[in-house]
Amino acid sequence: MLRRTMLICLLVAMLATLVQGQGTRVGFYSRTCPRAESIVSSTVATHFKSNPAIAPGLLRMHFHDCFVRGCDASILINGSNTEKTALPNLGLKGYEVIDDAKTQLEAACPGFVSCADILALAARDSVVLTGGRSWQVPTGRRDGRVSSASDTANLPGFTDSIDAQKQKFAAKGLNAQDLVTLVGGHTIGTTACQFFNYRLYNTTGNGSDPTISALFLPQLQALCPQNGDRTKRVALDTDSENKFDASFFSNLRNGRGILESDQKLWTDTSTRTFVQRFLGVRGLAALNFNVEFGKSMVKMSNIGVKTGSDSEIRKICSAIN
Ligand code: HEM
Ligand SMILES: *[C@@H]1O[C@H](CO)[C@@H](O)[C@H](O)[C@H]1NC(C)=O
Ligand SMILES: *[C@@H]1O[C@H](CO)[C@@H](O)[C@H](O)[C@H]1NC(C)=O
Ligand SMILES: *[C@@H]1O[C@H](CO)[C@@H](O)[C@H](O)[C@H]1NC(C)=O
Repeated sequence: MLRRTMLICLLVAMLATLVQGQGTRVGFYSRTCPRAESIVSSTVATHFKSNPAIAPGLLRMHFHDCFVRGCDASILINGSNTEKTALPNLGLKGYEVIDDAKTQLEAACPGFVSCADILALAARDSVVLTGGRSWQVPTGRRDGRVSSASDTANLPGFTDSIDAQKQKFAAKGLNAQDLVTLVGGHTIGTTACQFFNYRLYNTTGNGSDPTISALFLPQLQALCPQNGDRTKRVALDTDSENKFDASFFSNLRNGRGILESDQKLWTDTSTRTFVQRFLGVRGLAALNFNVEFGKSMVKMSNIGVKTGSDSEIRKICSAIN
């Protein structure tokens, strides 16, 4: 009888853990480090004032962390052949912000706050600083003890088809709506010319990419001349790169997407409906981008969260203990 009760309790606890997302919960630090979230947000705000580019940088860093071995701060580890040395991660920005927040958190409540949680909180704070809507971030992630460059191969690529993009997101428990919503993160930040200049010229012998608006093409060619500086940076959301809003989606509708993978969200009818819903197209159930973004971020932030003995609370974010 007693054993059966215990078994049921255990099952209920396991189920609750699953429902909440592998053990994270809002306010995880309310007893152990009540100032944890405010320390992170004030640190991000201070750095943002002198360098607004850290906001898109930190949002993208959290995405690249979560898609590789789960949201476990494996992206932050220094060393040869760690994730941060891999090609898709070379442009990431904001490591110094995470280190700064960690230093202050270790002074306030040593050994309690994980680097993985700092990344999740800093991503939310970055969205708020650029004018997006806030959301509650469940916390309680622990930091991973493994980081390997080769694991980054499954990150989505800028030439990926919609089927490939959907597959990579589905593999992380994210559906087509989450895909469109989260790629909407490209409403802030920039890309280097090298990731889209092949679309602008007769690179393959088939002319420029016909999905680029005829009016927009010469503007982009002026920004990224053929054989020009491949590292020059261009806004991903033309005319609204500093504001977290739905204008990225109107740009897609108007053939003004920058990355091939972004413009395909409009070309492909299965993802286009979500773009249209964010734009409030008549006849479709409207979706509010800034509301949906927080919901999809909570899902993304719970990918592969570690809670057990395969993990730790790092003392320094760039090194395992
Ligand atoms: C199909 C999925 C995605 C692809 C192929 C993709 C690809 C890219 C590429 C090529 C860049 C430019 C990088 C550079 O020049 O340094 C970029 C930038 C960026 N990405 Fe994505 N991305 C994807 C999804 C996401 C998601 C889900 C988020 C966040 C929720 C995100 C946030 C960002 C941000 C904020 C930037 C600007 C970074 C900066 O200005 O420093 N991306 N992305
Ligand atoms: C980790 O590497 C970065 C540069 O990539 C450097 O600024 C930082 O000091 C390093 N951290 C440690 C603890 O060595
Ligand atoms: C150009 O387009 C044609 C027809 O779509 C295709 O068969 C051919 O492989 C393309 N050429 C290149 C170099 O991509
Ligand atoms: C693109 O290149 C191909 C092969 O070199 C050529 O036949 C074609 O006329 C070019 N198209 C344009 C629009 O320049």
